[in-house]
Amino acid sequence: MSTPPGYFDTMYGTSADPWDLAGRWYEQRKYAVTLASLPRRRYRAGFEPGCSVGVLTRQLADRCDRLIAADRVPSAVDNAAARTRDLPNVEVRLLTVPEQWPEDTFDLIVLSELLYYFDDEQLRATLDRAVTGLEPGGTLVTVHWNHPVPEHVRTGPEVATAVAAIPELCLLSEVRDTDFTLQILMRRNDDGSAPRSPAQQEGLV
Ligand SMILES: C[S@@+](CC[C@H](N)C(=O)[O-])C[C@H]1O[C@@H](n2cnc3c(N)ncnc32)[C@H](O)[C@@H]1O
Repeated sequence: MSTPPGYFDTMYGTSADPWDLAGRWYEQRKYAVTLASLPRRRYRAGFEPGCSVGVLTRQLADRCDRLIAADRVPSAVDNAAARTRDLPNVEVRLLTVPEQWPEDTFDLIVLSELLYYFDDEQLRATLDRAVTGLEPGGTLVTVHWNHPVPEHVRTGPEVATAVAAIPELCLLSEVRDTDFTLQILMRRNDDGSAPRSPAQQEGLV
């Protein structure tokens, strides 16, 4: 069973920013690694479900012409919207994924600290939506806390194994930190070939 919705309501009932995303060095460091790992300098359209209070959202917005961020908890959406109010390229929506997913096609989808809440069915449905909604050559980012948490269905390395097995994606890079696992994946081209790496795109190899 996925982590129940009441868990998130309780978390946000005790604090506006229950994971201290705006304060913790763990988060700042992880966000810096995430941003530095993106293979493209610039994205046309990004989607970040599970955005919480929008700390990563602000940083992703620097790299996206348009960014849709979403969360299932209304107070998180309100806070993320307030945090990004000065950024006209950001839209924050109240959405529960995978059931609610934007119709748009994206060249960047970021699933950060989200997938370990999902049971097998919800994980599969979310990854299916992500693959379907990602244009060929587009980037899928997944990041997960590695350590066991009672309310998490699985750990980061377990999620990473499931993500790496998706045939439509190829792995560009992976960071196996002690605390988190980060994967940067690219959607294969329609003929099944791997998109070019940043060095290949600049003619270095
Ligand atoms: C640990 S926070 C991650 C915040 C942010 N992605 C980051 O990496 O800093 C997880 C967030 O995911 C949201 N969430 C959990 N399940 C969700 C779902 N099915 N759809 C949308 N948001 C969800 C929670 O409300 C919470 O704000």
